[in-house]
Amino acid sequence: MKSLFISKKKNTALLPQGEKGIKKMGHRNYVGGYWDEIGSLQFRFLLKNGLRPEDIFLDIACGSLRAGVHLIPYLNKGNYLGMDKEKNLIKLGLEKELEQKWIQLKEPTFVVSANFKFQKFEKKPNFAIAQSLFTHLPSSLIHTCFRNLREHFDENGLFFATYFISPTRTINPKEAHSHGIFHYTIEEAKNFGIANGWDVDVIGDWGHPRNQQIFKYTPKKSE
Ligand SMILES: C[S@@+](CC[C@H](N)C(=O)[O-])C[C@H]1O[C@@H](n2cnc3c(N)ncnc32)[C@H](O)[C@@H]1O
Repeated sequence: MKSLFISKKKNTALLPQGEKGIKKMGHRNYVGGYWDEIGSLQFRFLLKNGLRPEDIFLDIACGSLRAGVHLIPYLNKGNYLGMDKEKNLIKLGLEKELEQKWIQLKEPTFVVSANFKFQKFEKKPNFAIAQSLFTHLPSSLIHTCFRNLREHFDENGLFFATYFISPTRTINPKEAHSHGIFHYTIEEAKNFGIANGWDVDVIGDWGHPRNQQIFKYTPKKSE
C-alpha cells in the first residue's frame, strides 16, 4: 500500500482570507511576500518561454499584480487579462503598484471570479500562468480550472502552473484556503491536465524561493 504524505502545515489557525485578510496583511503579504523576487521570476520565465507583446496573456489568480506590473507594460494594448476572486486585491494592485499611465496605455482587463469563468473575457488567451494558485486549492477546483480553460484557450497556446510537490500523496484539506498549503505528487499534477484535454511537460525547478515546481500544459490536439 502506498504511504501517505501528510502535510505538516494543517489549515488550522490560518490568517483570514478575503477583505479581512487583505486589510490585516496588506496586499503584498496577502499574496505571499517576495514581491520583487516572484514578480520578476515570473516575467523572466515567461519571456524565456517565448512570451511576446502580441500574445494574449491570462494571469489566473493575478492577485495584486505582482507579475502584472511587469506584464502590463510589456504586452500590447488590451492583451493582459487578469482573474482573481478578490476584487480588492486587483484594485489595490492597480492603485498602488502599477504606474497609472499604463492603465490608459495598455487597457488591462479583469474578471473577478472564484470558479474560473474564463468565458467572461472577450479575448481568448494563448498564454497563461497560474502561479501559486493550485498550492491553495483542492483537486476538484483545479480540475474545474483546467476544464474551463480548455474551453476558452487558443489551440496552440501555452499554460504554466506551479505546485508544491510531495513525493507521495497528501491528504489535503477539503476546502480551498488562500493561506492553506496543498501538496500534490508529480503524477497528480500531470493528471489535472491530462484528464481535461491537455498534454503536459514537467519543468520542475524554476528558481522559486519557496520551491514551488512549474509544469507546462498545451491543449491536446484532437486526432
Ligand atoms: C499566493 S497568491 C498568488 C497571486 C499571484 N499569482 C502572484 O504570483 O502574485 C494566490 C492568489 O489566488 C487567488 N485565488 C485563490 N483562490 C482563487 C480562485 N478560486 N479563483 C481565483 N483566484 C483565486 C487569491 O485571491 C490570491 O490572489
